[in-house]
Amino acid sequence: MSHRARIALKIAVWGVCLTPLASLAYRAWTDDLGANPISAVTNTLGDWTLRILLASLAMTPLRIVLGLSWPIALRRLLGLFAFAYVCLHFSVWIVLDFFFDWARMGADIVKRPYITLGMLALLSLIPLAATSTTGMIRRLGARTWTRLHRLAYVAGVCGVLHYLWLAKVGVRDPYWYAAALAVLLGVRAWAWGRRAVRRRGAGVAATSTPAGA
Ligand code: HEM
Repeated sequence: MSHRARIALKIAVWGVCLTPLASLAYRAWTDDLGANPISAVTNTLGDWTLRILLASLAMTPLRIVLGLSWPIALRRLLGLFAFAYVCLHFSVWIVLDFFFDWARMGADIVKRPYITLGMLALLSLIPLAATSTTGMIRRLGARTWTRLHRLAYVAGVCGVLHYLWLAKVGVRDPYWYAAALAVLLGVRAWAWGRRAVRRRGAGVAATSTPAGA
């Protein structure tokens, strides 16, 4: 893929990821957030956190299944946008729901399992955002960095469980997200399995070949 095409793709990702924020700001400005504005802002930010997080998790399966290389160039940007959205989502909870009442926030994290799961998802994303620079990849080494970045799966699972837990009976969206996550992780598991079988096959071939043959 050409350098220009890569830049165009990244600009498109910026546009798509900033649009919900612009729309939310416009709705707030025009007093169009409905009867419960705090809930509208929290839920919109939560929805987009999950969508962008799943989009970032979809990049590797796209490469595995379709053999495309360009999605990998977007993975980091999408991951950072998911982190930015969850920070805003969390800030609304801190400022508008609890107004910096740390004791009540601590109690809420312990008391409500969906908040515990949301916190786990957020905490999993922090090391990923902190090590997203090229310098950090070099410092950690590709192997450690790749291992650390498996935390993205923990964030995805906890994020989906957070939504499943908080959703009211009859709301179907969280199940769609759960199905999408299962497919994305399933494709990875299938690729890992295939690689492991190939490696084992190569090992068996090497040991069964007589020395000097
Ligand atoms: C990666 C992490 C997270 C993801 C993916 C996420 C996602 C979501 C989603 C999809 C919703 C529901 C939106 C809807 O109903 O349309 C939601 C709601 C909510 N989230 Fe999160 N969230 C995350 C982290 C957190 C954290 C860290 C907190 C606070 C500690 C939090 C607090 C809430 C609250 C209070 C609601 C609204 C619940 C209600 O309507 O009663 N979330 N979140």
